[in-house]
Amino acid sequence: MPSFVGSIDQGTTSSRFLIFDEHGGLITSHQLEFDQHYPQPGWIEQDPKDILQSVTTCIQECTKKFEAKGFSVKDVKAIGITNQRETTLVWDKVTGKPLYNAIVWADTRTHNLVHRLINNSEGGIDALKKICGLPLTTYFSAVKLIWMLENVPAVKEAHENGTALFGTVDTWLIWNLTGGLDGGLHITDVTNASRTMFMDIHKLEWSDESLEFFGVKSSILPRIVSSAEVYGTVKISSPLQGIPVAGILGDQQAALVGQKCFNRGDAKNTYGTGCFMLFNTGSDVVISKSGLLTTVGYKFGKQATVYALEGSIAVAGSAVKWVRDNLGIINDTPEINVLASNVEDTGGVYFVTAFSGLFAPYWRDDARGCIVGITQYTNKNHIARATLEAACFQTRAILDAMNKDSGHPIASLKVDGGLSNSDICMQIQADVLGIEVDRPAMRETTALGAAIAAGHAVGIWKSLSELDSVNAENRTVFSPKFDKEQRETKYKEWEKAVEKSLNWV
Ligand code: G3P
Repeated sequence: MPSFVGSIDQGTTSSRFLIFDEHGGLITSHQLEFDQHYPQPGWIEQDPKDILQSVTTCIQECTKKFEAKGFSVKDVKAIGITNQRETTLVWDKVTGKPLYNAIVWADTRTHNLVHRLINNSEGGIDALKKICGLPLTTYFSAVKLIWMLENVPAVKEAHENGTALFGTVDTWLIWNLTGGLDGGLHITDVTNASRTMFMDIHKLEWSDESLEFFGVKSSILPRIVSSAEVYGTVKISSPLQGIPVAGILGDQQAALVGQKCFNRGDAKNTYGTGCFMLFNTGSDVVISKSGLLTTVGYKFGKQATVYALEGSIAVAGSAVKWVRDNLGIINDTPEINVLASNVEDTGGVYFVTAFSGLFAPYWRDDARGCIVGITQYTNKNHIARATLEAACFQTRAILDAMNKDSGHPIASLKVDGGLSNSDICMQIQADVLGIEVDRPAMRETTALGAAIAAGHAVGIWKSLSELDSVNAENRTVFSPKFDKEQRETKYKEWEKAVEKSLNWV
């Protein structure tokens, strides 16, 4: 009997459901975009019901395609969940209804709140870094929850009377899929918990010190579980009813697993809405001195916890969408490659896409986007190319920080995510980094990672070494074409553009 594993991939702008076979091969998938809401500059919200609805529709449509191919859903042995991280939800356990829209990870409304916290604490921006591995910035869930407690009376009231449930997107999905009001599980995995600022990353428990710092009651928080174990089964009416839910990973950690970065020193970079490089540090909790985050990489059942250093870039694919929707110089996102390849270079133009401030390694929420170097000669092709270069230069800043922190220069970078489909972008990336960029044939590595976690939990893959051949063939390797001088000259100019973005006022 063949075995299959399902994977819910709930990202920032779209949801997917995918089904993999026992060799890690992708059988079929379904994807749906859902609405983003921008009520004020810097604010980004999503309706929790839209998130859930998009997932359940993807499950229905994908399982239909699966059966049309002659397979049977009863051979799906488990499902895994991977999700946009940090996005914060609060709902009421009596009504099951969300008490506010989800505040998305890239939302910067907490700017003033964050600065109040930084100014009022002895440790400043790093007040909680030893506990949670993260700096105080607008990015993480804790400050988004505090904002709701201070600004949304329904959330404040439910927090006080004990009916509020807090969660990241994984928690919201699992609670609903496993029954909602009828006994839904209120859980989150260690990787998602490691992005809240509430978890002690050494102990993998909620930290009393952190909860006290933020003034949050522990009763609102989900139970922390590993990334791979059978948590429960799907209880709602769905083609997946009765199937075990057995894996949860934040999307970037899922890509780390999906790219099989199982050894200390392995690194991957995922170009999605944002762009996130993770570097496996094994069982060591490495606290960065160079502006990187310390995060949980994954923990499979009772096995040892694997940690990672992370460099987060807030804007990558979303800059291409901005070029499409706000500048209107392309009709669809792949067209950016056509424009970018019409020119040899950007003609001296640099585009710092700091729409949500600048994340790693700068952590400056007051930075703003800027395009510099424009002359009469500049045209839309140069702007398009500069948009692609922006993700590549920011990745270079992160690679430099990783090399500094780890002391072991990364020799080759595994890539995936939407922008990695662009040959021109990946060639620029190799040129800017001066190392090989290695792209797998099947780029749904985030979903594959969640499937690996779930499949491992139910015994489809008993050891990670059984995954050696998964997605190993037909990889594309981009080798650097710039010489050192070209590379360093361009990077220095980029750094000058970043200075402008940091000092825009
Ligand atoms: O931390 C945010 C991250 O999880 C979002 O990922 O793929 O939507 O850019 P993505």
